[in-house]
Amino acid sequence: MCGIVGYIGNEDIKEILVDGLKELEYRGYDSAGIAVLQDNEIHSFKAVGKLQNLVEKTKDFTVENFGMGIGHTRWATHGKPTEINAHPHLGEFSYVVHNGIIENYQELKKELSQSGVAFLSQTDTEVIVHLFEKNYEKLKDSFKAFEATVEKLEGAYAVLLITKVDPQKIFFAKNGSPMIVGNDGKGDIFFGSSDAALIGKANEVIYLDDGDYGYTSSKEGIVLLSDKKPKALNKKALTGDKISAQKGGFRFFMEKEIYEQSEVLVDTIMGRVLDEKIYFEELDENFFDGIEEIKICACGTSYNSGLACSYLFERQAKIKTSVEIASEFRYKEPLLDPKSLFVVISQSGETADTLEALKMARSAGLKTLAICNVDNSSIVRIADHTLLTRAGIEKGVASTKAFATQVMVMWMLSLYIAQHKKSMSKENILSEIEAIRHIPNAVVVENRLHEKIKRLSKRYLHGHGFFFIGRDLFYPLALEGALKLKEISYLHAEGYPAGEMKHGPIALADSELFTIALMPKTLHYDKVKSNVEELSARDATILAISPERFELADDYVHTYHSDHPMSEFFEMMVVTQLLALEVSIRLGNDVDMPRNLAKSVTVE
Ligand code: AGP
Repeated sequence: MCGIVGYIGNEDIKEILVDGLKELEYRGYDSAGIAVLQDNEIHSFKAVGKLQNLVEKTKDFTVENFGMGIGHTRWATHGKPTEINAHPHLGEFSYVVHNGIIENYQELKKELSQSGVAFLSQTDTEVIVHLFEKNYEKLKDSFKAFEATVEKLEGAYAVLLITKVDPQKIFFAKNGSPMIVGNDGKGDIFFGSSDAALIGKANEVIYLDDGDYGYTSSKEGIVLLSDKKPKALNKKALTGDKISAQKGGFRFFMEKEIYEQSEVLVDTIMGRVLDEKIYFEELDENFFDGIEEIKICACGTSYNSGLACSYLFERQAKIKTSVEIASEFRYKEPLLDPKSLFVVISQSGETADTLEALKMARSAGLKTLAICNVDNSSIVRIADHTLLTRAGIEKGVASTKAFATQVMVMWMLSLYIAQHKKSMSKENILSEIEAIRHIPNAVVVENRLHEKIKRLSKRYLHGHGFFFIGRDLFYPLALEGALKLKEISYLHAEGYPAGEMKHGPIALADSELFTIALMPKTLHYDKVKSNVEELSARDATILAISPERFELADDYVHTYHSDHPMSEFFEMMVVTQLLALEVSIRLGNDVDMPRNLAKSVTVE
């Protein structure tokens, strides 16, 4: 949930840390801090709120020559977002940053308090630095003290620690939370909780595994251990360019990411949609042998994409499919059948609930498949197989292009299974392939459309709630439209099956209830139309999104790609994304970093 950076070398330590934190700020942004160790002195700065506050605070602090530093951007789990609770946390002579949750911190805190340690913060993290210093008092060896500290920690962590008693090293440990270490071939060493922080700095990196720990120094480089034994460094080249991670002229990353969808969907389908069939080089010919059903598990937007595609798995691939919210799945004591394929969907690949569900499925002997956007993420490393969504880095907390590419991958997957099971005719597969090829066009943001939604958005800034309604595939899209709006506008919005409104929610209907009606021409148009008429008769304010003009609507967004349900799906997806964006902008909200949220939810 938080972001971590670290650096050893001769370059400007402060700049490198702050620059890395900027890349990670989307992961958490209620406070930030850095600690720099140079000439046996540690300088530490912390600030509540966005990273800019830390930048202001450190503007007169300059560092030259060799040194090292650690930095952190926080999304509070234990303790309020205050300066005291911000990282780095200090002991007598050491500083630590941590991402994750130390589950046994109460127990450790009690022991340390009894031995005279005074705690300053309310965080779980602070136990790490005190425990290290206690161990050092006993062992008089910094590495042994760090190793003994890590041994005591339970839970999820990525930890960096610096100490005046060994001012040449950064100590690190990883378990359950992501951590990457890299170098630039010139002796400088960098840490980050995501490779975004290392792009443009390191050229080769090591994605640490759970249980890895060690230290780095400019003399010895990266010293890596696991289970108390030295471990070989599995170096990978770090590719990717920083420019693509910048806003590129758009007001917000979310806006840029909506516009990028056409381009990234081309990447998603490239090499997978052949002339007459769907092909995944990641899957063996016999991947589906013995699979009798599919269980999909995910959170938030990824759940919505899974739910949408469950219709396709059943309809096209003729395979029984169920969809579960990962945080519920974990504790329901699910009955897992080894003949099920367990599919997890995650943009980040680090979502704790999804990751744990995946581990459960694996230990129950199920074959697992990850649909993920981040290669080498925790989920990708654990799943048996992965289909990468190829959306590129998504920075807006409100997911857009990740959702689009997830749906696309699963649509292709449903056809892939249909080929394998021969549940669709060759002609039907070909016409689906034709439809897939058309999608990058259907999601192009036309100026006309964006301008229309900008104008419309001013009418939707108040009221007592929004209902996004749709049927079939368009019900999960309604859920997603509502999720987008509430995440960034802070207005109450619900997604609902259109046919279900009359079973309760219609009681809310009046002119202040805004209904966003998804009315595709190719799927149950008449049914949805009657559901919307029922709402209109109760004076609800209706915004109809449809290729067919709907006379009872107060507002209308005309869609044009109505030759296939999925073309309609993708085009309407863009409309709902733009609506959320423009409402949020009019309300003056921070679109990319909405309050109380973080991009990657690595806690339960
Ligand atoms: C999306 O807009 C949300 N920020 C959130 O619901 C997200 O989809 C969810 O936390 C799951 O994340 P993941 O895809 O990285 O696993």
